[in-house]
Amino acid sequence: MNPIYEKLEKCYQCVREKTDFVPEVAIILGSGFGQFADEFEEVKKISYHEIEGFPVSTVQGHAGEFIFGYMQDVPVVLMNGRVHYYEGYAMSDVVLPTRLMKMLGAKILFLTNAAGGLGDGFAAGDIMMITDQLTMFVDSPLIGENVEELGVRFPDMSEIYDKKLQEILRQTAKEIGLDLKEGIYCQFKGPNYESPAEVRAAKILGASAVGMSTGCEAIAANHMGMQICGISCVTNMAAGMSENPLSHQEVQENAAKAAPYIRRLLHESVLKMHKE
Ligand code: 6GU
Repeated sequence: MNPIYEKLEKCYQCVREKTDFVPEVAIILGSGFGQFADEFEEVKKISYHEIEGFPVSTVQGHAGEFIFGYMQDVPVVLMNGRVHYYEGYAMSDVVLPTRLMKMLGAKILFLTNAAGGLGDGFAAGDIMMITDQLTMFVDSPLIGENVEELGVRFPDMSEIYDKKLQEILRQTAKEIGLDLKEGIYCQFKGPNYESPAEVRAAKILGASAVGMSTGCEAIAANHMGMQICGISCVTNMAAGMSENPLSHQEVQENAAKAAPYIRRLLHESVLKMHKE
């Protein structure tokens, strides 16, 4: 068996020993977003430490647990804290949790992250729906022998972010009075923030926001045929776009401020996605 799939199977068994919960929607909570305290009926929590072989984040502020439960009648798995490529994990480990949530039953993947804004209407505090992505600055999570159990060798990426889900997000934003921006997310390796020249390059390539996650998870999920949507919380302006040097604290503080709006958007839109 493919060693990546073997590891995945082991993690799957480990989770199944603890819960038989079958999620429909998987939500990855980005840095600073914390957990869904309100309007979420928790059924089971599994710390990443409890799953043998599971990658565990080392970054401060990145908790690590799956939270299974219901948003009204929708069975959901929340990934509270993710691992990043810059922590030194292989890309196959970075996307292992995403793959695992699909194996557990999730058909829809809702990605969230904190990102740097590149100007032109993308200011700190804005919430941006991801319409497409640039990931050529990081390795593809699909490099290596293809895991045939998950998907094809050369998967199409012409609509990574599902058009129907995007429309639901637009609609929901309107209903809750949120000025939802839209744009392309560019994933960098990190952990250093980009230089002003790199920021300009990303902008020339068409990006509106830059970050250190999400793109690879979206590729792995698309490979498996999941329906994907994503939201960036613009927590700060990228280097060269404002006077201020960048700090992780600023990112976390602004993400926490925007979190209630994102929670509302997530909650309302997930209910609609379930009905579709
Ligand atoms: Cl400016 N860059 C990257 N790569 N990630 C970020 C960010 C910037 N701001 C928040 N996350």
